[in-house]
Amino acid sequence: MEEIKIHSKRRDYPVILGDNLLEIMKSDLDGDIRYFVVLDDKLPSKYPKFIKDLSPNSMIYALQGGETAKAFDVYAKITSVLLENNFSKKDMLIAFGGGSILDLVGYVSATYKRGIDFISIPTTTLGMVDASIGGKNGLNVDGVKNAVGTINPPLKVLVGLDVLETLDQRNFNNGLFESLKMGLSLDKDLYDIFKDAQERTYLKEVIYRSLIAKKNVVEQDEDEKGLRKILNFGHTFGHAFESASNYSLLHGEAVGNGMLVVSKNKDYYADLLDILSRMNCPIVSSFNEEDLINRIKNDKKADKTVVDLIVVNEIGKAEIIPTKIDDLKGMVN
Ligand SMILES: NC(=O)c1ccc[n+]([C@@H]2O[C@H](COP(=O)([O-])OP(=O)(O)OC[C@H]3O[C@@H](n4cnc5c(N)ncnc54)[C@H](O)[C@@H]3O)[C@@H](O)[C@H]2O)c1
Repeated sequence: MEEIKIHSKRRDYPVILGDNLLEIMKSDLDGDIRYFVVLDDKLPSKYPKFIKDLSPNSMIYALQGGETAKAFDVYAKITSVLLENNFSKKDMLIAFGGGSILDLVGYVSATYKRGIDFISIPTTTLGMVDASIGGKNGLNVDGVKNAVGTINPPLKVLVGLDVLETLDQRNFNNGLFESLKMGLSLDKDLYDIFKDAQERTYLKEVIYRSLIAKKNVVEQDEDEKGLRKILNFGHTFGHAFESASNYSLLHGEAVGNGMLVVSKNKDYYADLLDILSRMNCPIVSSFNEEDLINRIKNDKKADKTVVDLIVVNEIGKAEIIPTKIDDLKGMVN
């Protein structure tokens, strides 16, 4: 088992990474603690059963994962159930699911009785390599993603690779596109694993390296004042592709297309296209440039005329280049 320590000005916390999730839960959950477990309902029953056997007063709250979980009505319902069942600050929440459930529970944790601890157990590749660290959480409001949210790190993160056995191929690869992004922009050895088509064989190393890459950034700029923007490589166009597709493209797939756009004239472009195609990323071949640029103008992270474009000139090294949005014209087609 590997342990990665994440430093945060709010609290330091470990990520435990191993092959078998139940083994990790055995050593890292405590039978004397009462847990409220928000669980993705697609997960096998052996996980909630283990928690109930360990701590019989704990409660399991199963719900459907996905964007619908990141909603105020779900948040309000969970808060009511916590109150009805007298959960207090000495009890603990567990977020047990993909990035959507991690974001939901992170927000409940930040706000219930002004703060109750939570443990994060990511069950998707995206949850493992991205959403589990850095502390961000959020809910969607009126169709705006993450319209409210806080930065609130978990007490610990438990990553067991075997929980991915039930995850479908498309979601599995979707998360790995964020790892590919971290490789290309921050860690050449990680990128090379993808280039050699070895990401499944070396899955644990891929997850480990992605976590280290993200850790190195968020530890320096937890509140996204500057450097943390570097994690947005591929995201400027990625968000535009995602909304233009009406969310039929998954986030990682949209980021894959976003990376292609900003890498068009780079010598690694052909390799990147090969990797994305091999991993079944839907490559968007025809789109309306003007529509994409308008979407970038309206993105919450842009200040309407200028965007912090992340560019990779040398594999493993990203730069933040403030760019006039009008100068993006011509990059896409
Ligand atoms: N807070 C952050 O730093 C951060 C970073 C990246 C993404 N996110 C958020 O994460 C969300 C996306 O997360 P995601 O891609 O993990 O998707 P998700 O949580 O929506 O899960 C995707 C699908 O996989 C299912 N699922 C989850 N684990 C499974 C398993 N082990 N077996 C079978 N099915 C399983 C879910 O039910 C769902 O249908 C977005 O809302 C995004 O905003 C947050």
